Order: sequence, then C-alpha cells, then structure tokens
Amino acid sequence: MQLLRDAVVLVHIVGFALTFGAWAAEAAARRFRTTRLMDYGLLVSLATGLALAAPWPAGIVLNYPKLGVKLAILVVLSGVVGMSNARQRKRNVSVPRPLFFVIGALSFSAAAIAVLW
Ligand code: HEM
Repeated sequence: MQLLRDAVVLVHIVGFALTFGAWAAEAAARRFRTTRLMDYGLLVSLATGLALAAPWPAGIVLNYPKLGVKLAILVVLSGVVGMSNARQRKRNVSVPRPLFFVIGALSFSAAAIAVLW
C-alpha cells in the first residue's frame, strides 16, 4: 500500500512538472502564453492531490493546514490559467506579462510549500 502511495506522489509530482515545465518553456521562448499542457498538469495535480489527502495507508499523519493552503493555491492558479486561456481564445494575444509571471510564481510556491513546510 505504501508503494502505491509513493507511486501516486510520483504522478502528483509529474503534474507539477507539466504545469511548471510548460510555463518555463513558454517563458524561455518569449511567447508568454498559457497552453493545454498547463491545464493537464493542474488536472493531474488536483486528482492525485485529492487522492493523497485521504489518510491511507492506515496510521499515516497528514498536515491538513498545508494541504488546505496548496488546494487554495491550486484553485487560484486554475482560475488565472482559465482566465488567460479564455482571453487568448477570444483575442489571440499573449497573457499580460504580470499575470503570466503570477502563474509561474503560484505553481512554484505550491511546490515550495509541499517540500519546505
Ligand atoms: C499546483 C498544485 C500542487 C503542487 C505544485 C504540489 C506539489 C507537490 C510536491 C512537489 C509534492 C512532493 C513533496 C514531498 O512529498 O515532500 C507533493 C506532495 C503531496 N501533495 Fe501536492 N501539490 C499541489 C497540490 C496539491 C493538492 C491540491 C493537494 C490536496 C488537497 C495535495 C496533496 C499532497 C499530498 C497529500 C502530498 C504527499 C506528501 C505530503 O503529505 O506532504 N497537493 N505535492
């Protein structure tokens, strides 16, 4: 059971890699757009994060305030990415620079909180 939990944590980290990796690739290419890969990464992070938020295997102690903060960050991040997607679809322009950097900063902060708290 512990091995299964570790495997879910691994997929959870892949979710972060997809979101942050896609963001970093857009920043490096100076396109400053949101992409489908960011959506998929957020979906993977949410699904696996919720699965990990259940106390299994028996006896595991979870830091719920930390998980709550990460969930809040994920909700805000999904909102900002969704808003940027809609804006791009409608007007075919890049995400305003500050908003684009907020996406990277939120994704990075969620991972930092996961590891450092
Ligand atoms: C963008 C959002 C998120 C990112 C970037 C993220 C990132 C990470 C990373 C890097 C780890 C591995 C760190 C470690 O095990 O020390 C981790 C573990 C974990 N995450 Fe997330 N996470 C996110 C959202 C969530 C959400 C929404 C939940 C649940 C509500 C969640 C629940 C967990 C749990 C239960 C673990 C296992 C380790 C622990 O108990 O701290 N995560 N996360």
